[in-house]
Amino acid sequence: MRKNIVAGNWKMNKSFDEADELVNGIMELLEKKELGKNTLMILCPPFPYLEMVSDYSNDSYFMVGAQNVNDNDKGAYTGEVSAGMLASMEIEYCIVGHSERRAYYGETDAIIAKKVDQLLKNDIRPIVCCGEVLEEREAGKQFDVVKRQISEGLFHLSAEQFKSLVIAYEPVWAIGTGKTATPEQAQEIHAFIRQTIAEKYGKDVADEISILYGGSCKPSNAKELFANPDVDGGLIGGAALQAEDFVNIAMSF
Ligand code: 13P
Repeated sequence: MRKNIVAGNWKMNKSFDEADELVNGIMELLEKKELGKNTLMILCPPFPYLEMVSDYSNDSYFMVGAQNVNDNDKGAYTGEVSAGMLASMEIEYCIVGHSERRAYYGETDAIIAKKVDQLLKNDIRPIVCCGEVLEEREAGKQFDVVKRQISEGLFHLSAEQFKSLVIAYEPVWAIGTGKTATPEQAQEIHAFIRQTIAEKYGKDVADEISILYGGSCKPSNAKELFANPDVDGGLIGGAALQAEDFVNIAMSF
C-alpha cells in the first residue's frame, strides 16, 4: 500500500532558534498523539538547518528532506549543494522542481530531469513538483501542463527508478494565496497524473506512487482533500511553520 505523506516545506523561513523550536514543538505533539501507521512525516528545512533537524529525526518521528539540489556532481558551483553532500548527511528526500524555483531561478523540465538523476544516483528520493499557473488553469490547459512536466522531467527513468519518486501536484494559483483547490479539482488531476504514469510504466508502478497535494493546505481543509482516493497527502508551506497546524494536518488521514 502506498504511503500517506505529509511534508513540510519551510521555504526561506525561520532563524536557527525558531527552527529548533518548531521541531521541538512537532516532537512534543507527536509524543502525545501518534501518527497513523501508514503516515510518513517529512520536514524540509533550509540547508543550514538540515543537520540540526536530522539529529532530532533519529527518534524516527519524521524524515528529513532538502528543498533543492544542484544538477551537477561537484565542482566550481559557488553557493550550490550537491546530492552527494546531502547523501553524506543521510538526507533521505529532496524537493525538486518547485514552482518557485521554476519561476524565479529558471528551472526547466530538462534541469529538473538532471536533478532527479543526481538524487537517484545518491539514493535520495525526489519529491517532484508539478502544477499549472492560473492562466493555464483558466484556459483549461492544466492537464497538458502537468503531463508535459511529468513526461519531460521524469519519463527517462526506468520503472524501478520511478518507484522511488514522490509526486507533488501544486497548482501555482493555490500556493500561498489562501485559495485551495477543491477536493474535486485535486482528485481529478491526481487521478490524471496517476493515469499518465500508468500509461508509461503500468498500473502497478502508478499505484505505488504517493501523489501529494500542495497549495494553501491547512488543518481546516486537509481532511477533505486527503479523503480522495488519489490524494495521498500534502506538501505544506505556510501551515508547516506552526507545529500544531502541521501535526494536525498530518493527523488528517
Ligand atoms: P502554501 O501551503 O504556503 O500554499 O505552500 C505550498 C507549497 O508551495 C509547498 O511546497
